Amino acid sequence: MSNITLDNLSKFYENAENEKILDKLKLEINAGDFISISGHSGIGKSTLLYLIGGLIKASSGHVYYNGKDINQFSKREMDDYRKNVVSFIFQEYQFVQAMNLRDNLMFTSKLNTDLSDLKLEAKIDEYLKRLNLFERKFYLPRMLSGGQKRRAMFLSGILKNSEFLLMDEPTNDLDEKMSKELIKIMLEEKEAGRGVILVTHDSELSQIADVNYSLVDGKLTVI
Ligand SMILES: Nc1ncnc2c1ncn2[C@@H]1O[C@H](COP(=O)(O)OP(=O)(O)OP(=O)(O)O)[C@@H](O)[C@H]1O
Ligand SMILES: [Mg+2]
Repeated sequence: MSNITLDNLSKFYENAENEKILDKLKLEINAGDFISISGHSGIGKSTLLYLIGGLIKASSGHVYYNGKDINQFSKREMDDYRKNVVSFIFQEYQFVQAMNLRDNLMFTSKLNTDLSDLKLEAKIDEYLKRLNLFERKFYLPRMLSGGQKRRAMFLSGILKNSEFLLMDEPTNDLDEKMSKELIKIMLEEKEAGRGVILVTHDSELSQIADVNYSLVDGKLTVI
């Protein structure tokens, strides 16, 4: 079973007076686990996801994927890790502005799949309908509302066929009905065997995870 382990992971930003954001964190997450992480704004939640996703480097300590330190990865291994192991749902919108929603979603879906374009498109359509976006399929990102973009970002992360989902406040800007649909999809993904790390301010939402952590003073504690 796939596994990501954090061992004594610390992070400070050199340009920020070496203020320690994460302090010797330890955490283990397996495929099929669902954890949530909450904490005040600016405490380091996104930083933690970026470290797990291999987007930034730790100041000290390690992130292991199946026992191997991701910092020791060759370029090819890191490419493979980013492509097949982790999928990000970023806090900020990250779309190719010149491509419509359909093309943006096809692009991420095609990164790692055996499905034909026809089958992929059918899958995309099904999710677009569930998230009330089907009528916006051919809109450019700038033509979508905040909540529509949020749902589209979520879909893009889900459609990438990775082992772990790293979700940064995926339900921001959403009404209750849409949040519920996202929760349903997150739970389906866990059932399908993906590991889910959900960062959220929403204490009610965090309850859907198997284990809830709070990030305070650079440390994670179970709540
Ligand atoms: N590149 C950087 N250089 C210097 N400081 C940074 C950098 N990126 C983030 N920080 C600082 O690190 C701290 C943690 O930021 P981070 O984005 O991880 O917080 P967060 O918990 O995700 O907050 P929010 O809930 O508002 O999204 C913040 O104080 C931020 O200003
Ligand atoms: Mg954040």
